[in-house]
Amino acid sequence: MNDSSFLKRTVTPAKSLRGEVSVPGDKSISHRSIMLGSLAEGTTRVSGFLMGEDNLATWKAFVAMGVSIHQTGPDSLEIEGVGLDGLVEPGDVLDCGNSGTTMRLLSGLLAGQNFFSVLTGDKYLRKRPMKRIVTPLAAMGARIWGRNGGERAPLAIQGGSLNPITYASPVASAQVKSAVLLAGLSVAGETVVTEPHLSRDHSERMLTCFGADVRPFDGGVSLVGRPRLMAQDVIVPGDISSAAFFLVAGLVTPGAELTVRNVGINPTRSGIIDILTAMGGQLELLNIREQSGEPVADILVRHSRLKGIDISGDMVPRAIDEFPVISVAAALAEGTTTICDATELRVKETDRIEAMVCELSKLGAQVEARPDGMVISGVEQLNGGKVSSHGDHRIAMSLAVAALSARDAVTIEDTSCTETSFPGFWELLNNICGA
Ligand code: S3P
Repeated sequence: MNDSSFLKRTVTPAKSLRGEVSVPGDKSISHRSIMLGSLAEGTTRVSGFLMGEDNLATWKAFVAMGVSIHQTGPDSLEIEGVGLDGLVEPGDVLDCGNSGTTMRLLSGLLAGQNFFSVLTGDKYLRKRPMKRIVTPLAAMGARIWGRNGGERAPLAIQGGSLNPITYASPVASAQVKSAVLLAGLSVAGETVVTEPHLSRDHSERMLTCFGADVRPFDGGVSLVGRPRLMAQDVIVPGDISSAAFFLVAGLVTPGAELTVRNVGINPTRSGIIDILTAMGGQLELLNIREQSGEPVADILVRHSRLKGIDISGDMVPRAIDEFPVISVAAALAEGTTTICDATELRVKETDRIEAMVCELSKLGAQVEARPDGMVISGVEQLNGGKVSSHGDHRIAMSLAVAALSARDAVTIEDTSCTETSFPGFWELLNNICGA
């Protein structure tokens, strides 16, 4: 592997893949640690924090709203909480960069704050749908505007007092659910969100740890507003979405045996483990434990013969960020993999159905787009070639995994985007390939 230019990287087939890796902290939990730490009373200490660009955007936004946040180590920080009503009006536009979580969760939180704010993002984020949060927030009485009638950022929010609602979200989205719950923090009374399938529940778990009354029920969750949030020590586990690249790399690379340490295995996120196991992958969960209300394990993976499966329904939100790398596993499995009910993939950092179909096809994969997913027929081996990340971190890393067992080198264009969720990815991959 080399670093021939800032953006372009060439990944050569791996000679071996053995040893241990630790992946950086969970992106979703890191965002929420800053948000809840800022709204709590007292000093919240966070360790295992992901110092990726997305989380730094959240960090900067809270600093701009008057919160003191200090870095105390390579992945640790302290947040001086200002309480539920202690944020101040930012003096400038808040730039969420590439981060949908920053923009959507912050919108919910800001809807109930008594000041004006504007949220923008990079060219990818400004194309993503925002009506999904504008609609429920407006129903709570929020004054919120965006381009295209509220569908696109920049968003402008004049915060104020809101009403509690019961919102039936048409999509299984933790960002929508969390936006409504964070708005509900500012309102006396009960805010309820239901969703068609359970999305990741990190907000619910962390709100509970900070002292809020959050009650999950079958199909939804309720929150009692105006809680006193108390500062906590938060230990962020490794991100299963980052571990996923090494899990698939271990499964598809001949002779591989790899342990990924300290991975969050929250059941709303662990669909990747179930999917890869159903495909015939040898994965072992070791040393299962709990940290800061989240289950954690080490995962041992060995090269396996994979077979195609059907993926749909409840499983989709449980693995929503892993479909680019799942499509790589499927491209190398025996038989056909069908992915359905995954229209949400079209509105991620990029359209991940079109992006993976386009790029995997260049490497000789048999893959076809469907409106709500993909159909992939496995081949024995992928070819080398030249591919592009489409500016999407998870596409870039998935293509790197595809390259490890390809016939020839794969050159990936536009790779700097991996900084959004996985600083150090290329170095880690390089180390493990040479092991
Ligand atoms: C996230 C929720 C998911 C996921 C995203 C992070 C979160 O998005 O794709 O990477 O932290 O809440 P949706 O809620 O839109 O599915």
